[in-house]
Amino acid sequence: MTFSIAELFSKHAPEKFSLHEQYLNNQMVRVLKTIGYDRTYIRAMGQYLYDDKGDKYLDLLSGFGVFAIGRNHPTVIKALQETLTLELPNLVQMDVSLLSGLLAKKILETTADNLEKLFFCNSGTEAVEAAIKFARYTTKRERIIYCEHSFHGLSLGALSLNGEVIFREGFGPLLAHCDAVPFNDLEALEKALRSKEVAAFFVEPIQGKGVNIPDDNYLPEVERLCKKYGTLFVADEIQTGLGRTGKFWACEHWGVKPDMLLMAKALSGGFIPIGAVAMTTRIMDTVFNRMDRAVVHGSTYGKNNMAMAAGLATLQVIEDEKLVENSAKVGIKIIDGINAMTANYQFLQEARGKGLMIAIEFQSPKSLSLKAAWMMLEAANKGLFCQMITIPLFKEHKILTQVAGHGMNVVKLLPPLNLTAKDSHDIINAFDKTIADTHQIPGSIWDLGKTLAGHGLKNKTTNK
Ligand SMILES: Cc1ncc(COP(=O)(O)O)c(C=O)c1O
Repeated sequence: MTFSIAELFSKHAPEKFSLHEQYLNNQMVRVLKTIGYDRTYIRAMGQYLYDDKGDKYLDLLSGFGVFAIGRNHPTVIKALQETLTLELPNLVQMDVSLLSGLLAKKILETTADNLEKLFFCNSGTEAVEAAIKFARYTTKRERIIYCEHSFHGLSLGALSLNGEVIFREGFGPLLAHCDAVPFNDLEALEKALRSKEVAAFFVEPIQGKGVNIPDDNYLPEVERLCKKYGTLFVADEIQTGLGRTGKFWACEHWGVKPDMLLMAKALSGGFIPIGAVAMTTRIMDTVFNRMDRAVVHGSTYGKNNMAMAAGLATLQVIEDEKLVENSAKVGIKIIDGINAMTANYQFLQEARGKGLMIAIEFQSPKSLSLKAAWMMLEAANKGLFCQMITIPLFKEHKILTQVAGHGMNVVKLLPPLNLTAKDSHDIINAFDKTIADTHQIPGSIWDLGKTLAGHGLKNKTTNK
């Protein structure tokens, strides 16, 4: 019998949700059904998803930032098909591969000149794990400092650098000697570093949860303080990297040079999981300092040919299609377009962001009748108001978005970087209409709010 994936789809398509209910995480299916996101997508291309009803959705979530170059990009597909048909020797292990050398060289051409070496792994959280180990070994110190509300992944080491109770609860004990400081607080950081016991400070240049942008002097001062106290400065660019913020690396906005720079997500081209740590020669040469330590850290699948080919093709697409420039240009249009509405809508606080990493924050309104409705939702579940934005955006305007974090009234846009001017107009118009509807009390959108409050839905569409 021949094996065919297409045949599996045609035979079993209607079983998608029931299979998940029976064999996988059925809570996810419950969430999707509760908020009406239970669609059957049958195709995806670029920034769009298509369902079996013939509807087209604009995807402003991009698989949590994985599909920066859009879905099913033909250049990456061709690179992967070629890699498969070449019958390459892959993961020989007692060998080194050409494609990993080429990708490392190409990535390091994009980073600041102090970063000269690269380590490959299979995901963002693995990049974080590697950086924790490398920092400890290099500095001979144990303590790690991270920021409140940061997100660095969910394996145990990375989870130890994550301040959100919802993720940590019941999974401890986590790594010892990991402490949080408030983001954008230099005094707290210096206090933490002063003991000269801190191996590394991990920070997202722009925090994914809430899209928090630091003051302009923050990261330059972080770099200076880390140098002063012998602490390694680790920039987690797993979400912000590869053009997301309108620069190739978010660190470029402030001209800072971390000792380690972490990447993953977009580098995959949306196909093959990959993670990487760019680092100084000192760190690489300290960790891998003897022949008997040549494999002291690594992972069986790290540097696999398919991931390397996807990474190389992705970098080519970003360059050819000028996606970094497009991210900056379209991002500003969206932010300005939404900020222009703040005078019309009491619930709308602001849009902020860099490039195509955008937060749209909502607030308690001044007028008494609106305020009472807001309080009702906040009392049921903090941050629930945002679901009254994301759900109509999805159902009525066919735009997929997410809530930016637990317990906050922030909708986050993390779209593919190839958004067009028309897409940006559609987004602004859809927000305009949806936000206007929230100001109609009573109205259908508030009926939805009451239903959600009744479900006790705690921002379950949120993630990173
Ligand atoms: C800033 C940041 N670091 C680390 C991670 C973890 O990456 P992964 O999910 O590939 O393990 C994420 C994922 O959302 C992230 O946004």
